[in-house]
Amino acid sequence: MDMRQDTSAASGGASAKGSSLLSRPTGIFGGLSGKLLLLTVVFVMLAEVLIFLPSIANMRIRWLEDRLNTAAAAAIVIDGLQPVELPRELQRETLMATGTRAIVLRKDGTSRLLATAQMPSSVDDQYDLTNVSLPSTICDALDTLLFGGDRIIRVFGPVGSSNMGVEVVLRDTLLRKAMISYSINVFLVSILISLFTATLIFFAINRIMIRPIRRLTDSMQTYAEDPEDERRVLVPDNGRDELSVAGRHLANMQSQLQKTLKQQKNLAALGLAVSKINHDMRNILSSAQLMSDRLVDVDDPMVKRFAPKLLRTIDRAVGYTTEVLSYGQTSESAPKRRRLRLQDLIEEVRDILAIDPESGIEFSEQIGRDLEVDADSEQLFRVIHNLCRNAHQALVAYGETEPDSIRRITVSAHRLGSVVGITVDDTGPGMPLKARENLFTAFRGSARSGGTGLGLAIARELVLAHGGTIALVEKPAAGTQFRIEIPDRPVSLDDYRNRNVHEN
Ligand SMILES: Nc1ncnc2c1ncn2[C@@H]1O[C@H](COP(=O)(O)OP(=O)(O)OP(=O)(O)O)[C@@H](O)[C@H]1O
Ligand SMILES: [Mg+2]
Repeated sequence: MDMRQDTSAASGGASAKGSSLLSRPTGIFGGLSGKLLLLTVVFVMLAEVLIFLPSIANMRIRWLEDRLNTAAAAAIVIDGLQPVELPRELQRETLMATGTRAIVLRKDGTSRLLATAQMPSSVDDQYDLTNVSLPSTICDALDTLLFGGDRIIRVFGPVGSSNMGVEVVLRDTLLRKAMISYSINVFLVSILISLFTATLIFFAINRIMIRPIRRLTDSMQTYAEDPEDERRVLVPDNGRDELSVAGRHLANMQSQLQKTLKQQKNLAALGLAVSKINHDMRNILSSAQLMSDRLVDVDDPMVKRFAPKLLRTIDRAVGYTTEVLSYGQTSESAPKRRRLRLQDLIEEVRDILAIDPESGIEFSEQIGRDLEVDADSEQLFRVIHNLCRNAHQALVAYGETEPDSIRRITVSAHRLGSVVGITVDDTGPGMPLKARENLFTAFRGSARSGGTGLGLAIARELVLAHGGTIALVEKPAAGTQFRIEIPDRPVSLDDYRNRNVHEN
């Protein structure tokens, strides 16, 4: 047999099972309402059984009391004819009428057998109706119901509120018959009650719970088929119960998800466009690189001074475009760290910013000449350049509204142990609220027209790749301050010893 066919059949079976699990329940007892219906019937029947036990016990006592009372009425009349003994025929009729086999009247400490017929030699059970307790009557009733029917029993009890007592002997066949017919009636009534209750509960629950739940599951199902279709978002009701709240949450989640999906789609499209532009830009820059390489040979001192900077700038641009292309597949490349002089790097940033001297914006650096930082020079350059560029852009815009203000960008740095802290500070307008709320979040944080909102996100990603931190510092004066902390790479003892070996 073909193995592939086999596996596909198996997976088809699994997916069919999965989809059948996601579809609506089938069959009357497959759904919640059917299960609830069944449960209600069972529970009501259970309750009926609990009610049935004391009621059948009670019914039995009433039946026996009836017999006892009828016998007592006859006994008192017969006793009135004292000392005459009743003719046999009359005795038989009395016993027939009272449904007993013997009647004994107890009075003033003596017992008198008033009527008797075919008196059995012994009785199977005897019951005193003077004091009855519920548990014992329930046991007696069950006993009669299950095992009785052909037993001779003796029952005695008081006659009204007199001090006389009456005692009868009888067969329990009729009693058991009456109890069975009583039980059948109770059973039929119980079934009717439970069906009636279950139907009421079924409709109530169906209306209050099942329908809203079905609405939620239907909405989830149709939404899952096409999450981008706005018409498929659930329209929640205004109820206050848990299901209405769940409905509102679901609707909220669906619209949030839709927004995110839309954003993702836009980002993917943007990413593709950027990659395309970038691809061609890299080619153009490569040509510029080739041409500017030749500038090095020109003798003009001015050209000689600027050519290396121009070359480095173009190199850097080519580097960025290549990296952005690779960003499509992965994230930023791992930093290639070495110890570099921070001051040189900051000077490069200042040169690239090319602050117009006429603009009134100062750039000040407070960095020790020998301060070294253990970092990837390209990546750290991008971090500080992004921060300084933001500050510069903010100060330029600030200058238009507040031309007389002091506008300064200050970059300072200190080393403490194995950590270098770098601060980029400006005296501008401070971070706008929107930028603060979405700080370091790509595409969200821009509060500047023409800004993409990537600068700070990139800076953060690069600093984190160095194992460092970047944070916006709250400061009392106006302006914005960012603080970066970059720790040196830890040096293992093995590396240290190997280095010593190489150096020696
Ligand atoms: N020094 C600053 N002073 C005032 N606002 C700032 C400062 N730095 C950042 N911001 C605000 O933070 C926002 C986000 O900056 P971010 O660099 O992430 O994006 P962007 O500058 O808008 O776009 P780009 O991706 O081109 O850098 C900016 O739009 C700006 O409103
Ligand atoms: Mg920026």
